[in-house]
Amino acid sequence: MQYKKRTHTGGELRSSHIGQVVTLTGWVDTRRDLGGVIFIDLRDRYGKTQIVFNPKFSETIYSLAKELRTEFVISVTGKVEKRPAGTENPKLGTGDIDVLVEELTIINKAETTPFPIDDKLDTNEDLRLKYRYLDLRRAPMQANLLLRHQMYQITRRYFDEFNFIEVETPVLMKSTPEGARDFLVPSRINPGKFYALPQSPQTYKQILMVAGYDRYFQIVKCFRDEDLRADRQLEFTQIDIEMSFVDEIDIQTIVEGLMKRFMKEIKGIDVTTPFPRLTYKEAMEGYGSDKPDLRFDLKFADFSDIVKDSGFKVFAENAKKGGVVAGFAVPGGASYTRNQMDNLVDFTKSLGVGGLAYIKLTEKGIDSAIEKFLGNEICKQICEAAGAKPGDNVLVVSDAWQKTYSTLGTLRLEIAKRMNLIDENKWNLHWVVDFPMFDYSEEEKRHVAMHHPFTAPKPEDLALLDTDPTKARARAYDLVMNGNEVAGGSIRIYDSAMQSKVFGLLGIGTEEAKMKFGFMLDAFKYGAPPHGGIAFGFDRLAMLFAGVKSIRDVIAFPKTSSGISLMDDNPSEVDKKQLDELHIKLK
Ligand code: AMO
Repeated sequence: MQYKKRTHTGGELRSSHIGQVVTLTGWVDTRRDLGGVIFIDLRDRYGKTQIVFNPKFSETIYSLAKELRTEFVISVTGKVEKRPAGTENPKLGTGDIDVLVEELTIINKAETTPFPIDDKLDTNEDLRLKYRYLDLRRAPMQANLLLRHQMYQITRRYFDEFNFIEVETPVLMKSTPEGARDFLVPSRINPGKFYALPQSPQTYKQILMVAGYDRYFQIVKCFRDEDLRADRQLEFTQIDIEMSFVDEIDIQTIVEGLMKRFMKEIKGIDVTTPFPRLTYKEAMEGYGSDKPDLRFDLKFADFSDIVKDSGFKVFAENAKKGGVVAGFAVPGGASYTRNQMDNLVDFTKSLGVGGLAYIKLTEKGIDSAIEKFLGNEICKQICEAAGAKPGDNVLVVSDAWQKTYSTLGTLRLEIAKRMNLIDENKWNLHWVVDFPMFDYSEEEKRHVAMHHPFTAPKPEDLALLDTDPTKARARAYDLVMNGNEVAGGSIRIYDSAMQSKVFGLLGIGTEEAKMKFGFMLDAFKYGAPPHGGIAFGFDRLAMLFAGVKSIRDVIAFPKTSSGISLMDDNPSEVDKKQLDELHIKLK
């Protein structure tokens, strides 16, 4: 097909081009026939330009233009004209002009699309994913991909400026333990052996530190076979960072610098650094989350001491055996109806605790079903501890430490949503630090690393590794933005004896450690520098900057929540021949 190539893009023409003969290429967006004249918005990724087919000017071209339907691909040549007064479109950059078409080539026709290419499209996401190439033609999706592009450029410029070098690490590697399941790739030439796709380049970046590359970064794909949510994908992108001869503050300062730049260049907002720090304990006991959303308050208070000698057995016994009775005041919550409260109690119970108690503080005083057990005085003390004012409602949960706070954390978010307390225009950035080294996994009946097994313990907690490892804190830190964990990292162990000890505490025996991480323990014998790092969840950041609710909207070709790519239909079955070559027999 012969056609003329464009002289300008679809978003380029202005009044200054009036009188020029130009060629535009693109897709037919919308078409209007008015008084014998055809008006078309021609679209490409730069914008839209109105083109005009007037039979008075050329009957032949006008007739051809009658064939045009939405999404046809065309090339047009014509003169840029000023739009008649009153017909300008201030919403379009090109809204002052149109192009009177003198030549038209229909390069390709298009069938009727399954959904309109509409900026405000409200259609089922599965359909958008199946026809992703059509979905990606829409301006909001293009803006999201351009945002990602801008983020890549800012990242690369920033790290280059600070002497970091970008190193690519393998996609086929040895299984790394980061807490999720690995994706495995069978090796054809090594029967019975498997590569794993990286959950992150963690081991490689540490090895690079041993190799002397003291400032590394990479924009890298990571793969984790885990259950998907709105902020998780099986394959996702990290900005991965590692540095040598550093402490927490060095890594955090570099990260704050990058965030400052993102916020300035993408959002035009100046953020103040350093970001506030909250310890894990403060975050959990104050807000019930290790990634608290601090765009609103609703801070918790601990009532355990107040209730431990009360006549309310449920609270008193729990407090005495080391559990926690805690809660928070809901401003204006005393007006909640019986129905609303029943609904909130059911919601809380669905989180796995016995119940939700509440004490309303009205102008007349305490109004609560548990007053008869606790007594008026204790109810008043609870309200006071929670900072409740008349008109408020204090919600109280009683269970073990973790359960109480995580339940309250979910409840806090739910209340904030129901009461519209979250200001979507606010940006809240803070660090959560001093995470515990270990978490106890009920499922595996052993300690698991809260961050990963290479994370160093805090020097002041070293003795706890021998006496009470669950109390030992790690040199780990997460960056939280608007209640989302956008980056996580740690200072690493660089001593093979300490690394073996931590493996031991994680139930990884000497033989297993040698088999899985022998290469790392070996590397540490040859002069490993002190080092640490962090990784950003790139897609999550992009999601927040784009102001969308799902990371699928900032990924060109994402998987559904059941891990399927609807457009090209994967995962899919493979030929028996392929399986035979890989020495695999299906059950
Ligand atoms: P971590 O596992 O905390 O640390 O991951 C770093 C960041 O990656 C993002 N993230 C995800 N994003 C989308 N989908 C997922 N499935 C997903 N999983 C994680 C999160 C998270 O904060 N190697 C360490 C980093 C280090 O210690 O330097 C690591 O991967 O935003």
